[in-house]
Amino acid sequence: MIMVTGANGQLASLTLRELAGRDVPALGASRTPSGEQRHLDFDEPASLDLTGVSTLLLVPAGYAEDDRVIVRHRAVLDAAVRDGVSHVVYTSLTGAGDHLGFALAHRATERMIRTSGLGWTILRNGLYAELFGALLSWVPDGLESAFGDGALAAVARADLAAAAAIVASDPTAHAGRSYDLVGAPITAAEIAGQLGVAHRTIGLDEYRARLLADDTLLPFQPPMLASIATSVRHGFLDNTSPDLGQLLDRPPIAPLAVAAKAAAARQP
Ligand SMILES: NC(=O)c1ccc[n+]([C@@H]2O[C@H](COP(=O)([O-])OP(=O)(O)OC[C@H]3O[C@@H](n4cnc5c(N)ncnc54)[C@H](OP(=O)(O)O)[C@@H]3O)[C@@H](O)[C@H]2O)c1
Repeated sequence: MIMVTGANGQLASLTLRELAGRDVPALGASRTPSGEQRHLDFDEPASLDLTGVSTLLLVPAGYAEDDRVIVRHRAVLDAAVRDGVSHVVYTSLTGAGDHLGFALAHRATERMIRTSGLGWTILRNGLYAELFGALLSWVPDGLESAFGDGALAAVARADLAAAAAIVASDPTAHAGRSYDLVGAPITAAEIAGQLGVAHRTIGLDEYRARLLADDTLLPFQPPMLASIATSVRHGFLDNTSPDLGQLLDRPPIAPLAVAAKAAAARQP
């Protein structure tokens, strides 16, 4: 049995839908399970029951400081070993993302997986096209961001879900492999152009000041978001790779329209 964690999150729910569409039996695990789903919370050791699971698709719970994320992932991997899981598929972060504020927790998890004794496949996911679009701010005359002219090899979340479903369906074919799953590089100006508006760049100091003034953000989020901005702006996230198209056996979804849709959805 395949188990997918974070079942009510966006990536995991799309992956479960992909698996169902391929007639591959899979079980969702969630902090708030519904229907057939199993209750599983990385923060609650008693809930980490992986009995009967052969392949664990571990979707990270990345919204916290590194120490919390790493303890969570350690706990679920220990449970996987204890309960006889054969293979773990982990949705990680693109190799080009090492400068990002949340890279360390992903790389630490990859290390734990490689030394766990479990079979493994690492899916090094690029940043979502949906995220890129959503990170542009609307101003009266168009869109604004700190991304400058930098390009991001953005990837549609649906493609990452399809890739995860393909790998989880046949894990031994992908054992011991890491895939870099990124899309075509796109810029903030191209997203704005797609929507028929202008894009204006702001400096990183102004961007960080705005983030720090936003009391809806958790303390770890301003540095995380500023790290995305500087990495894109300075050309550290425009890496391309054939891995996604090869895994999907089709061209990846063009990320520009996906990013533009996400930006448009936030227009006041
Ligand atoms: N590549 C990118 O651009 C990008 C962007 C943002 C995030 N991410 C990372 O990729 C992951 C999946 O992305 P997404 O878009 O699906 O994010 P999402 O919609 O926010 O889903 C995250 C899910 O993580 C699960 N989760 C949170 N805390 C948990 C805990 N303590 N124990 C078990 N599960 C927990 C939750 O699932 P349940 O509600 O079912 O419990 C939550 O819905 C994120 O969690 C984050 O680590 C990647």
